[in-house]
Amino acid sequence: MAASAAALERGGQAPSGEFGPASAAKLQPYIYGAKTCAACHDQDDHPTYEKEDRAAMICRMNEFPRFDTQDKHELAFTALTGPRGQQMSRLLGKDVREIAACINCHSVPERGIKKQQYKRESDGVTCVGCHGPYAEWVERHQRINNEEWHGLGRRAKARLYGMIDLGDPVRRAEICVSCHIGNHGEGKVVTHDMYAAGHPPLPSFEPATFSDAQPRHWEYLNEKSLERRNRIKPSPDRRNLPRTQLVVIGGLVALRESMKLLADEAGANQPVAVGAQWPDFARFECYACHHDLQAKNGSSWRQVRRRDVPAGRPAPPDWPLILVRLGMGAADSQRSASLETQLQEQLAVFQESMLDRVFGDPKRLVPAAHKVAAWADSTIRGLDGQVFDAAMARRLLDQLCDMARETVPDYESARQIAWAFRIIYHESVPQKQRDSTIEHALADLGAKLALNLPPENKQVPIETALQARLRSVADFEPESFKSLFATIAGRLARQEPIQARMR
Ligand code: HEC
Ligand code: HEC
Ligand code: HEC
Ligand code: HEC
Ligand code: HEC
Repeated sequence: MAASAAALERGGQAPSGEFGPASAAKLQPYIYGAKTCAACHDQDDHPTYEKEDRAAMICRMNEFPRFDTQDKHELAFTALTGPRGQQMSRLLGKDVREIAACINCHSVPERGIKKQQYKRESDGVTCVGCHGPYAEWVERHQRINNEEWHGLGRRAKARLYGMIDLGDPVRRAEICVSCHIGNHGEGKVVTHDMYAAGHPPLPSFEPATFSDAQPRHWEYLNEKSLERRNRIKPSPDRRNLPRTQLVVIGGLVALRESMKLLADEAGANQPVAVGAQWPDFARFECYACHHDLQAKNGSSWRQVRRRDVPAGRPAPPDWPLILVRLGMGAADSQRSASLETQLQEQLAVFQESMLDRVFGDPKRLVPAAHKVAAWADSTIRGLDGQVFDAAMARRLLDQLCDMARETVPDYESARQIAWAFRIIYHESVPQKQRDSTIEHALADLGAKLALNLPPENKQVPIETALQARLRSVADFEPESFKSLFATIAGRLARQEPIQARMR
């Protein structure tokens, strides 16, 4: 691999071993601040390229201002120094700017790495935090008329030069959830001590919705000019709906990574972060412990909720399991049935290990959680190359309606179902053919479940909307969610099957 990288350097052919092992060891970690990228990626406001040159580029080259004015990632480090960050420093008894876990998720950790124009105070989680903090790709990709680079596929750009392939749904979801769920190996863990000191509860994560909410600074494939689209290699299947695919794959990645996080934290000899002794309450469903006692109509919906588990023991959050059903549905029907059986078996062992005694038995839960993670991983690999077309999207929408009918979801699971439905419906049904009743019901769900992550598309701290966010959790009633979804399901059943319409 090193030899082929060297060959490329000398102007040789792109190596055929494009999918070979990463040569990451050879890559030079390097942090560029957003201002470096802005020199070229701000062409609407500060043009430096000829029109024809720009038209031939793989992207619009106007990505910087959206990040700079709307994306909350730029604020990530100032969150540590603002009023809430200061309060957390006080309650944790340590300046949070010195706590590795905080830095790992709220900036691009510097630790002796070379950098250029990067200031964590103003850049936060900057461009290379997602795109890859390596000199090799940043230097090569910016030379125009660099035919050698233009000839490379996305995977080669990633493997040889460290430019993360965010177009790959697995990779995208992994990168996002490493911070939005956590990753023990990367030293990114939010513990209950941090929550109790004031960290806002991390919401459930659906990568397609969160990508749109960044807000997105890139074009979808179907928005790209033909010239641009042809530059993407391997050329994507035109029938594939990438966001629908991201919802499904993202559901599996979320399960895999939350199981890994739980197992790694429960099995660790060394705490990675403040207060990370097992049991860490942060790996359990927050509202198992934090909710008002209620007796509306005789009992609370939590009691009504069907659960084949002993009452009164905190369990891990349910939401990472909910969208996984879509992944099983997307596999072919024979495989789908066996996947379901395997998952049920492994979950039964896992749940027993968690609930047999309060806070679970680490000796049993660690291997059990790893098995569930391995199941998710093999299901993800089984979907490699699967095309998510409009007919598949329709099946997934029907499945989401079934899930809303058959379960009594908690807030986070309801949100995952609603987010998934909204993405898949909007991607697979053209605007003119959308049902206005479904659109209204989605808008109602949007208001009830804060689907648009307030403050929406604004570069102001999340904290300013935290009270409203927590209110929407506290006010959640599964019944009203279910009845809105029943309306959606009824209307959807009346729509022609998508497959027939597409012909
Ligand atoms: C000197 C100009 C320049 C600078 C600085 C620069 N870029 Fe680019 N970038 C380009 C050009 C030109 C392209 C189009 C390349 C092509 O068409 O293959 C591009 C394309 C990209 C792409 C899409 C590439 C692909 O193959 O899909 C990404 C992502 C990107 N740049 C990110 C960044 C980031 C992040 C930074 C800052 C660390 C940065 N760029 C700095 C000029 C620059
Ligand atoms: C939180 C993660 C994240 C951050 C931070 C981020 N990006 Fe991106 N970027 C993405 C994702 C996801 C895509 C979509 C990749 C795809 O679909 O191929 C993308 C795509 C792009 C593209 C390709 C656009 C296109 O239309 O194909 C460019 C260029 C780019 N980003 C530049 C930047 C620059 C410059 C910054 C900083 C100013 C930045 N990004 C910050 C996640 C991020
Ligand atoms: C290095 C860690 C890191 C990575 C990687 C990362 N994020 Fe974030 N993200 C954060 C932090 C920290 C915040 C909160 C920033 C703040 O408000 O100060 C955040 C905030 C957000 C928000 C606003 C959330 C809200 O509740 O309003 C969205 C949306 C988001 N990220 C999407 C993404 C997506 C999509 C990806 C992957 C393409 C991604 N993030 C990758 C750390 C990360
Ligand atoms: C096993 C039960 C349990 C679980 C699960 C749990 N907590 Fe706690 N939490 C407690 C206890 C006990 C306290 C300390 C009592 C107090 O200060 O009120 C506490 C205190 C807190 C506090 C400070 C007091 C307050 O109410 O403001 C916050 C904030 C908090 N937890 C957030 C969370 C979040 C977020 C989650 C989920 C990620 C979570 N907790 C999961 C039991 C739990
Ligand atoms: C696993 C990654 C992770 C770790 C570790 C982490 N955070 Fe966060 N933090 C996030 C994400 C993601 C968000 C955005 C949550 C959301 O979408 O609501 C966030 C949000 C915040 C906010 C609210 C930001 C706003 O816009 O109002 C503060 C403050 C904060 N974190 C401080 C800290 C401190 C202090 C630490 C260390 C004690 C820490 N965080 C550790 C990922 C992390």
